[in-house]
Amino acid sequence: MGDYTESFRRSLEDPAGFWADAAEGIAWDTRWDKVLDDSDAPYYRWFTGGRLNTAYNCLDRHVDGGRADQLALIWDSPVTGQLQKYTYRELRDAVARFAGVLQARGVGHGDRVIVYMPMIPEAAIAMLACARLGAVHSVVFGGFAGHELAKRFNDAKPKAMVTASCGIEPGRTVEYKPLYEHALKEAQHVPDTVIVKQRDTHRCALESGRDLDWDAAMADAAPADCVTVAATDPLYILYTSGTTGAPKGIVRDNGGHAVALNWTMKAVYNLDPGDVWWTASDVGWVVGHSYIVYGPLLHGNTTVMFEGKPVGTPDAGAFWRVIRDHGVVSLFTAPTAFRAIRQQDPDGQRIGDYAIPQFRTLFLAGERCDPDTLYWAQNKLDVPVIDHWWQTETGWAIAANPMGIEPFPVKAGSPTAPMPGWNVRVIDSEGREMPRGEIGSIVCKLPLPPGSLPTLWQARERYHQAYLEAFPGCYRTGDAGYFDEDGYLFVMGRTDDVINVAGHRLSTGAVEEVLAEHPDVAECAVVGVRDDLKGQLPVGLVVLAAGVDRPHAEIQKECVQRVRDEIGPVAAFRHVAVVSRLPKTRSGKILRATMRKMADGEQIEVPPTIDDPAILDEVRQSLQDLGFKI
Ligand code: COA
Ligand code: AMP
Repeated sequence: MGDYTESFRRSLEDPAGFWADAAEGIAWDTRWDKVLDDSDAPYYRWFTGGRLNTAYNCLDRHVDGGRADQLALIWDSPVTGQLQKYTYRELRDAVARFAGVLQARGVGHGDRVIVYMPMIPEAAIAMLACARLGAVHSVVFGGFAGHELAKRFNDAKPKAMVTASCGIEPGRTVEYKPLYEHALKEAQHVPDTVIVKQRDTHRCALESGRDLDWDAAMADAAPADCVTVAATDPLYILYTSGTTGAPKGIVRDNGGHAVALNWTMKAVYNLDPGDVWWTASDVGWVVGHSYIVYGPLLHGNTTVMFEGKPVGTPDAGAFWRVIRDHGVVSLFTAPTAFRAIRQQDPDGQRIGDYAIPQFRTLFLAGERCDPDTLYWAQNKLDVPVIDHWWQTETGWAIAANPMGIEPFPVKAGSPTAPMPGWNVRVIDSEGREMPRGEIGSIVCKLPLPPGSLPTLWQARERYHQAYLEAFPGCYRTGDAGYFDEDGYLFVMGRTDDVINVAGHRLSTGAVEEVLAEHPDVAECAVVGVRDDLKGQLPVGLVVLAAGVDRPHAEIQKECVQRVRDEIGPVAAFRHVAVVSRLPKTRSGKILRATMRKMADGEQIEVPPTIDDPAILDEVRQSLQDLGFKI
């Protein structure tokens, strides 16, 4: 245990010294020239001149350092009834072999590889194999449809794609081939190699010349060595929702990422090497990148990968079963998973069915943890429940309760305090600091710590405009919140049109783009409406084109189907209201912020510039008619 205040102070006053110490936890091929390179400020870089390999740090060094026979990865799949375990040696060998497969197909340093896969070990193996070669992976969540995949092909210009024949969702098999064929047809840039892991549940036809069978390719492959890369070289691109339909390609570097994540495993999560750790998320999200794959492996932990849901696979006891079976000491998931469990097992009776004495901490992130869920989890599990706040962009927690440095008393509704490296400020629109207790925009003073995004993939202008322009010298988080009298941070919601559905980030703009393409829709807006289970749900408000007299129900159904086909089931888009007009200012601007507040159940002041105040009443009525309690 250490002293948070001292760590925090040092990280801001002497960032180079602080992170140089943390960098000793990583094996470097060449040590850095500069820890913090400010020569191109405000575009800061970490560990310039340093060289390393991230996969080596995740695997080989542990094999060489005495962990060869320790479990590295446990795959538990209640949806298939399968269980598979890899020691560090076995995982290293599988990764080296798959790196050989990629290399034989011409993938090398700097090339992009799309990984579009369900939660199977091959997804982690593919990611690590890219890292081994110095190639750049871009994982696309399996719940996205072909059109979203095509956008990522066009932006990342991948040389190869690694995929699987199917994913398994409760009650249905998700065939990947129709989805990626759609993307391959739609995109201007497509990968020339597709490597497919055939699963027993469903096998798909392979296209000769283009497609490779994972198992066959692995059987023939020669293992590939680790390629040393610059600390500042990209490790991966992860696309996340911005306010428009074009996703943002968040870039993660190799050096800063390895240093920061390895450090967090103890400082934030209080894990020691060898501990069994489980992140119940998906490798398609940043939480999965950082804490299913990279963080725990960098740190020599055993990571659990779970192909299932908190409920229905087979029941609300699934989490406790996995924690017991594998000796999990700490779990990281999203609050929505606990709301789902609580809905089905309100008294937490199933927890008692499993002996889990080793279980010591529950970590939650992805959305604000509502106090009700926090109290329920605390009471039922009798362990500390730690909310922490971060973003795809930041790669690790901006604010958390530093369990391995100095745990603080938990305050419901707050992710506690800024972590070392994060100079968090709450400001008004003019950049003035807000008094304690008053809500404002949350920004972080530059430089951001290692592991956070250095830029957007081949879009430095967009990076600047999205994050740095609004408040010079600061990174704009896009979240609003406040510090209380004790210095606890409260993060209350977004300041833009990004919504949070079951811990997944979604752009209302992307859904609007799809709705607007419906021939009967003249105008539309999408708002996130408060939902007890998923936090928010997207709701479409559409104005029909003049002269359209088809039944509204038909048009609504088509709208829902279009979003499912274009964006994917993960959008959880089921609600559309037909309205006569959208609320606008007299100059024609749609009053999004006002609708957003209304949908959140907040009191709204009718803006004086509104064109016709009655439209707001119509929108409210439509949302209530859809069953929302606002
Ligand atoms: N591939 C294909 N489809 C997927 C998918 C995937 N990988 N993941 C989800 N989907 C589908 C679901 O089947 C569902 O489809 P449906 O409309 O046919 O029912 C739809 O996308 C919405 O999924 P989701 O929002 O996950 O809802 P759900 O009802 O299936 O499950 C929870 C709700 C709360 C149980 C689930 O969201 C959950 O476990 N979330 C917490 C963990 C988490 O992943 N957090 C993310 C960041 S930490
Ligand atoms: P993502 O990039 O998908 O991880 O989503 C990041 C966004 O989710 C943040 O900008 C917040 O709006 C929200 N978020 C994540 N974790 C929390 C949390 N612990 N408290 C409040 N909001 C959160």
